[in-house]
Amino acid sequence: MPIFQSSTRTIPDAPGVPSHIAIIMDGNGRWAKQRFLPRVAGHQRGVETVRDVVRACRELGIGYLTLFAFSSENWRRPADEVTFLMQLFLKMLEREVIKLHDNNIRLRIIGDRSHFDDKLNQRITEAELLTANNTSLTLTVAANYGGRWDITQAVQTMLRARPELAAGFGEAELEPYLSMNYAPEPDLFIRTGGEQRISNFLLWQMAYTELYFTDTLWPAFDRNALQAAIHSYQKRERRFGRTSEQLQGEQLKNEQAQAKKDR
Ligand code: IPE
Ligand code: IPE
Ligand code: MG
Repeated sequence: MPIFQSSTRTIPDAPGVPSHIAIIMDGNGRWAKQRFLPRVAGHQRGVETVRDVVRACRELGIGYLTLFAFSSENWRRPADEVTFLMQLFLKMLEREVIKLHDNNIRLRIIGDRSHFDDKLNQRITEAELLTANNTSLTLTVAANYGGRWDITQAVQTMLRARPELAAGFGEAELEPYLSMNYAPEPDLFIRTGGEQRISNFLLWQMAYTELYFTDTLWPAFDRNALQAAIHSYQKRERRFGRTSEQLQGEQLKNEQAQAKKDR
């Protein structure tokens, strides 16, 4: 089975531990405001949460973690905050990549890189290259990412590569051109900070993702909060269009097959 498994075409396995968690890290500004600090202090503190969550996911055996760091719409923020966020991203790449590599973590960056300066683009390329063959956890950072941008760029790239598809194409033809073609679809989506929206994150890939929203602000999100999200996920019934009775029937069949094997 290829890694990119489309939930609208084949029914994925739904293991107890999510294979892929995608997070909108929201609430940095409010965390800072509550403490009478400038917004950027919240972003700075949020980096520590990123470290903790990456470590926890690696320890829990989660294969893919995807973090929304900067959306295509975040350019609308005050210029000094945008500059701070870009500098923070560059600093993180320069400081943390060796540590990721030492921990056998593969780093991928998704998003429109055409607005990044040369230095940042160079660091991104180097980091991806260095960690390309690592196998413990794939950490994807979405930077200048938008779900609509992703689908649009996929269509454009596909038509350039296979012009004959202009006459018509299906999901299976498009999927290899999406930014996350190297990962399974997210099983669990978490948004911190209390808002209950997707904000143009992985629109295509989250067709059947379980959604979890928490009021906890990102800088205050910790390992226990992550466990709570995973626990909530584990209690859900993922039907992928089928009925509950079908799933129960399937489970019974599996149990009977297992009992036969054990005999
Ligand atoms: C999320 O925190 C970080 C980014 C969008 C870069 P916010 O900066 O959106 O924090 P709030 O929502 O204003 O509290
Ligand atoms: C979403 O957060 C994007 C990131 C976390 C990078 P925002 O704070 O920008 O989302 P909206 O604008 O409140 O929807
Ligand atoms: Mg926000």
